[in-house]
Amino acid sequence: MIPLRRILIWISGASAGLGAALAATIPFENAELVDISRRGGTPGAQHVAADLADPESWPLVDKDFRQRIEAGDPELVVFIHNAGTLTPLGSADRVDTQQYTRNVLLNSAAALVLGHSFLSALSGRNCEQHLIMVSSGAAMRPHEGEASYCAAKAGIDQWVRTVGLEQRHRSPGCRVISVSPGSIDTDMQAELRASSPDEVPVSQRFREMEALGQLAKPEIVARTIWSLLDRDLETGAVLHIRDVT
Ligand SMILES: NC(=O)c1ccc[n+]([C@@H]2O[C@H](COP(=O)([O-])OP(=O)(O)OC[C@H]3O[C@@H](n4cnc5c(N)ncnc54)[C@H](OP(=O)(O)O)[C@@H]3O)[C@@H](O)[C@H]2O)c1
Repeated sequence: MIPLRRILIWISGASAGLGAALAATIPFENAELVDISRRGGTPGAQHVAADLADPESWPLVDKDFRQRIEAGDPELVVFIHNAGTLTPLGSADRVDTQQYTRNVLLNSAAALVLGHSFLSALSGRNCEQHLIMVSSGAAMRPHEGEASYCAAKAGIDQWVRTVGLEQRHRSPGCRVISVSPGSIDTDMQAELRASSPDEVPVSQRFREMEALGQLAKPEIVARTIWSLLDRDLETGAVLHIRDVT
């Protein structure tokens, strides 16, 4: 019998929204899926219970990357860093300090640290490797009331461009890309629509989009993200979903 090839996939935030849709639409039959989130409960996934806004959780994820990669000879390894939060929505001078700090730790720091852990765990491995960072249009456009979120996504994009240059010197190297998924009908969107138009003016646009049925279904976006694995993209590419659909 021909042995099945070993495929390892980690998705952060696979417990809800786009992450859950990514977990439900994996285009491989025999992949070993790991959800990194607080809630877990994702069908077919193993759960690394982690509050990624707490730096003490990051070594747990690092260990999971290393243990699973070392436990066998994976042929394909994928990490989609999707977990993120808008909380607390509001101007930087008015929001709660503790919530704001958690936002920075999750959206900015965890992305860059877990990205590093993944690359480090794969260093020297001879297998196909993909790291996909979920970004946002907010990386390019400043949205009042979302300062730390906008800055985090812009930082992720620049990290991807830079690490992409580094990975071109590696063979095989990891293909590192970021993708803005567009406006999707998830809990995050509902939180945005519920915010005050005075504090978060862009929320009005999303209320209108929802009323017009213009928010994308998470499964459709998820399938497009999976299709990126087979596309001829340079490592370090920063994409918007509308450019690849
Ligand atoms: N929805 C949109 O329109 C939109 C637009 C642009 C970009 N995005 C990006 O797409 C990604 C997914 O967003 P979504 O709309 O699917 O959001 P969502 O419905 O709010 O889901 C967020 C996911 O992130 C996880 N998460 C949040 N805080 C976490 C923490 N402290 N530790 C670990 N996991 C945490 C949640 O899991 P637990 O609660 O179980 O921990 C959940 O699975 C995000 O990176 C977001 O910035 C979304």
